[in-house]
Amino acid sequence: MVIHLHGDLGAGKTSLVRGILHALGHAGRVKSPTYTLLESYHAGGLELRHFDLYRLRDEAEWEEAGFRDEFDGNSILFIEWPEKAHVPPADIEIDLAILQQGRRAMIKGNTATGKACLNQL
Ligand SMILES: Nc1ncnc2c1ncn2[C@@H]1O[C@H](COP(=O)(O)OP(=O)(O)O)[C@@H](O)[C@H]1O
Ligand SMILES: [Mg+2]
Repeated sequence: MVIHLHGDLGAGKTSLVRGILHALGHAGRVKSPTYTLLESYHAGGLELRHFDLYRLRDEAEWEEAGFRDEFDGNSILFIEWPEKAHVPPADIEIDLAILQQGRRAMIKGNTATGKACLNQL
């Protein structure tokens, strides 16, 4: 399952992933992968990967980091700034926007897997 997170800096992408991880039972901290690019979690019996590619310099850095190995189909991937690298296509796309009060989330299922997941909400 691949989830792309769109929205400006500060739109709430990391906060949303944090909320999902805590809802799955993760008790520890969820820090932004701003500098590490990737943080990994095990929660709710699931393997989860949280990418933030904002600071990715180029495609070469992506290849050298070996991130492709994470796309083995065994994890749920949350990817902030997915347009920065050739990442796998999204099952679900979430677009966050800042409103005067709170945020607006537009959520789209692109694949049968993604749509089935959204139908469970
Ligand atoms: N739904 C929300 N309503 C109000 N404030 C929010 C919401 N989501 C995030 N924020 C606040 O916005 C700031 C930036 O959020 P963050 O999740 O780091 O954004 P992003 O990862 O998109 O850059 C944080 O201070 C956070 O508390
Ligand atoms: Mg973020």
